[in-house]
Amino acid sequence: MAPPTKEFVLPVSEPVAHPARHGPFSRLRLCVQLAVVIFGFSACLHSLDLLPTDPLSSLSDVSDNAELKALCPQAAPLLPQKNGALWEKLGETYGSEAFLTRAVDWLGGAVRVPTPSFDKMGPVGEDPRWEVFTPFHEYLLSAFPLIHSTLELTKVNTYGLVYVWKGSDASLKPLLLAAHQDVVPVNPDTVDDWTHPPFSGYFDGEYIWGRGSSDDKSGLIGAMSTIENLLENGFEPTRSVVLAFGFDEETSGLHGAATLADYLLKTYGENGFALLVDEGGGFSEQFGGVVANLAIAEKGYIDVRVEVTSPGGHSSVPPPHTTIGILAALLVHVEEHPYEVRLARGTPMYLKAQCLAAHAPGLPAPVRKAIQKAGSSDAALRAAGDALFGLDDDFRAFTGTTQAIDLINGGVKTNALPEQAWAVVNHRIATESSVDEVKKHDTALLKKLAGEFNLSVTAFGDDLSQGAPAYGTLTLSDAWGTALAPAPDTPVDAAPYALLSGTIKATYNAHRDLQGDNIIVSPGIMSGNTDTRYYWKLTEHIFRYNHHNSGNASSLAGGVHTVNEHLPADALIETIRFFTTLILNADESDL
Ligand SMILES: *[C@@H]1O[C@H](CO)[C@@H](O)[C@H](O)[C@H]1NC(C)=O
Ligand SMILES: *[C@@H]1O[C@H](CO)[C@@H](O)[C@H](O)[C@H]1NC(C)=O
Ligand SMILES: [Zn+2]
Repeated sequence: MAPPTKEFVLPVSEPVAHPARHGPFSRLRLCVQLAVVIFGFSACLHSLDLLPTDPLSSLSDVSDNAELKALCPQAAPLLPQKNGALWEKLGETYGSEAFLTRAVDWLGGAVRVPTPSFDKMGPVGEDPRWEVFTPFHEYLLSAFPLIHSTLELTKVNTYGLVYVWKGSDASLKPLLLAAHQDVVPVNPDTVDDWTHPPFSGYFDGEYIWGRGSSDDKSGLIGAMSTIENLLENGFEPTRSVVLAFGFDEETSGLHGAATLADYLLKTYGENGFALLVDEGGGFSEQFGGVVANLAIAEKGYIDVRVEVTSPGGHSSVPPPHTTIGILAALLVHVEEHPYEVRLARGTPMYLKAQCLAAHAPGLPAPVRKAIQKAGSSDAALRAAGDALFGLDDDFRAFTGTTQAIDLINGGVKTNALPEQAWAVVNHRIATESSVDEVKKHDTALLKKLAGEFNLSVTAFGDDLSQGAPAYGTLTLSDAWGTALAPAPDTPVDAAPYALLSGTIKATYNAHRDLQGDNIIVSPGIMSGNTDTRYYWKLTEHIFRYNHHNSGNASSLAGGVHTVNEHLPADALIETIRFFTTLILNADESDL
C-alpha cells in the first residue's frame, strides 16, 4: 500500500502553520484550533461570517446518547459458535511463546527473500527482474507444507498465486483474501541507514525488521500462517477460501493483480465472492477511542503532465519569460489554488465523521454537535468538515482531491533558451469526484494564465485554441495513461460489513481479555491504491484492512516504503487471530 494511512491526530493545542494555504481556510483552521480551546467554537465561526444562519446555537442542546449512537451503529462482537472450541483452542496456541517463534520465523523467512518490483518493468518472461519470485514461491512451499498438499494452487502469469481451499458447500460464495508478494525496492544509498539490514528479517525480541515486514508480507504470511494452523487442527471449511497474491502492487499491478482479476472473473464470475479483504488501514487511537479504519473506498488517481514549449535561441538575447519561467508561473498558480475541500453527506469520510461523533470520547463537543446536525443543516455540515480539517491534516487530505507537483524537467544548457519544460502534478481524487472533473478543473485553472503568456492550449487531446497563432504551447495530458477512477464505495448497511465489524471486535477483545465494546469500527478510506483496483467486479464487498495497530503521528507503524521498515511481532499475531476469526465466522455465516 502506498502511502501508509495514519489518521487525524493533531492535538488541538498545536496549530501548524501552513504558509502555502491562503484565504479563509487557514484562518478558519487557526480559528477553530484557538476557539475550541479559548473562546468557544460558534462565536469564532461567526466572527468569520461563515455561518449565514445560526446552526450552532441550537447545537447546544444536549443530545441523548441513543440518537448520537445511531449515527454509527456498531455490530456486536461476533464469536465463532459451531467452531467455538477450535477458536478458543487456537486463541491459546497463538498466545504461546512457541507460536510466537513460529510466526516470527515464517515472516522473517519471507522478508529474507527479496522481492522488489520496479517501475516500468517488461513483460514476465522477458524482464529477468521478475525471477526473484521463483525463490519466494519455493520458500512458501517449504514453509507451508499442509497448504501445498491440501489447497489447489494456480499460477497466473507465472508469478501470480491463487490458492483455493475448497469448501464442502459449493453454493456458498468464497471468501477472498488478497495480499501482494512484492515490496518497494531498497534504495542502495540508504542501506547503511537501516538499524538491521533491509532483508535480514531480524527479530530483536519485539520487532521483525526488514523490507516487506509490514507492507505486505505480514498480510500474506498472516493469511498463510492462519490456514496452515487451521489445517493442522483438522478444520475443513464449508465455504471455500481463495487466496490471491499479486506480485507488482507497488508498481500498479499491471502484470499481477490485473491478470489475477481476469482469471478470478473467468473462474468465479461477476460478484462471485462473498467478500474480499486486502491490505489497508488498521486500528489506532483517535480522539480518545480505539478506531478500526475499515477502508470501504479508495481515492482515484491521475498524474497530470503540464508541458510548455516556446521558441529557443541564444540566451544573450532572452525574452522576458523563458519556457521554464512560464512553467514555473503555471505551477505557482496551481499551488495557490488548491482544490476546495468539502465534507459531503454519504461519503466515506462523512460516515467516518459520524462514527467519531457517535463514539470517540475525546472529540471536542462543538465538533460532535456540528456533525450531529450536519445531516439536516448545510451550515453545520460545513462547520463540521472545516473543524475536522482544522483538527487534522489527514482528514482534509483524505476528504478532498489533493495535488502535489512531484516531477519537473527542462533545459539542457546555460546558454540555450529552453524550448520545452514539463512537470507532473499528482492528484488523489476525492471519492465523490472523478477523473473527468479533475481534468476540467486543471484545464480551467491554467487556461487563462496560459492565454496571458500567449500560449495555445491543448488539454487532454482537445485543441482549445483552434489553431490561432501563439507564442508557444501548453499541453496538459494524463502523464502515463494511468488515470484511475475512485473505487465504488463498499456498502456499510450490508451483511459483509457487519460480519467484518463483529470479527474485528471479537478479535480485539479476546486477545486482551476485554468484555464489552472496546473498539470503534468506522468506515474509512484508503488514501493510496491497492491491488483491489482490479477487483471491483469480483464483489461489491471490498475491504482494505490489516488488523493491527497502524499507529498515529506519535506511534507510526514503522518505515513503510522507507528505511527501517519493521513490524511488532504482536501485530503479526493479531493479524493471525483476525484471519482465524474471519475464516471461521465467514464459514458459519449464511452470507
Ligand atoms: C497515539 O498512540 C499512542 C499509542 O497507542 C497513544 O498512547 C497516544 O495517546 C495516541 N495519540 C493520540 C493523539 O491519539
Ligand atoms: C501571440 O504570438 C503570435 C505568434 O508570435 C503572434 O502572432 C500574436 O500576435 C501574439 N498575440 C498576442 C496577443 O500577443
Ligand atoms: Zn502494500
